[in-house]
Amino acid sequence: MRDYDAQPIGGLARRLASILTAKGIDPAAEPDDRPEPLPALQAADSRIPPRYRSALADHPAVTSWVREVAHAGRPGPGGLPGIAQGRSLLIAGTTGTGKTHQAYGAIRSLLIAGVRLRWKAITAADLYAELRPRPGHDGEREFMDLARCPLLFVDDLGAAKNSEWTEEITMRLINRRYNEMLPTLITTNLGMSDLRTHIGDRVASRLTEMTDKVILDGPDRRRTLAAERLRAPATR
Ligand SMILES: Nc1ncnc2c1ncn2[C@@H]1O[C@H](COP(=O)(O)OP(=O)(O)O)[C@@H](O)[C@H]1O
Ligand SMILES: [Mg+2]
Repeated sequence: MRDYDAQPIGGLARRLASILTAKGIDPAAEPDDRPEPLPALQAADSRIPPRYRSALADHPAVTSWVREVAHAGRPGPGGLPGIAQGRSLLIAGTTGTGKTHQAYGAIRSLLIAGVRLRWKAITAADLYAELRPRPGHDGEREFMDLARCPLLFVDDLGAAKNSEWTEEITMRLINRRYNEMLPTLITTNLGMSDLRTHIGDRVASRLTEMTDKVILDGPDRRRTLAAERLRAPATR
């Protein structure tokens, strides 16, 4: 049996340094005291589109909605708060004002706050495409998954071409979430009166009652970012 304790300190330190070096770790490096990433946030990362993976909700109305939802959370298994009934959030604004960024930022903020959260995100256009009746596909099951999900994010409501069928799907979805008081994040390009025309008065009326409203204004951030890139000195 080898007696490691009997080695002189200098020998031990040299041995430890050579083990670390063999593993590709710099023995002289300062210890890394950054907090471990949260498992729920890591898991969410793979489901958040790369463009919004580090989004932070920095609009005061969005952060206050996050606080309210986190505060209302019921303790679940393991003592972590789980999401409960609560108000929804409607983020309206013209193209490129940061609506989708704020919505994913809100989901990330809830996860960072340690809220145990089952969530789904879908654009309104994808919602209708996925649920459209077709052979061998159980649209009703998918509908119920979305309707019952503790937190649902519907991006770009009112942007897809509408019909009686899309109006009915939107009505069934929003009505379920309204009745069950399930928190829902909704973004839209439309003002309230255009939204009412697009999705119908029954949906608009429910949204008016169930949501806090945030209006984002300012320029189209995509165009601003593109102009900044043009102005920046070339790095190549
Ligand atoms: N608060 C923010 N900080 C930094 N970048 C942002 C912010 N809000 C939006 N962006 C960026 O601006 C662009 C447009 O934002 P996006 O949320 O897609 O706009 P919208 O959904 O309103 O059309 C994206 O590249 C996004 O990453
Ligand atoms: Mg968007």
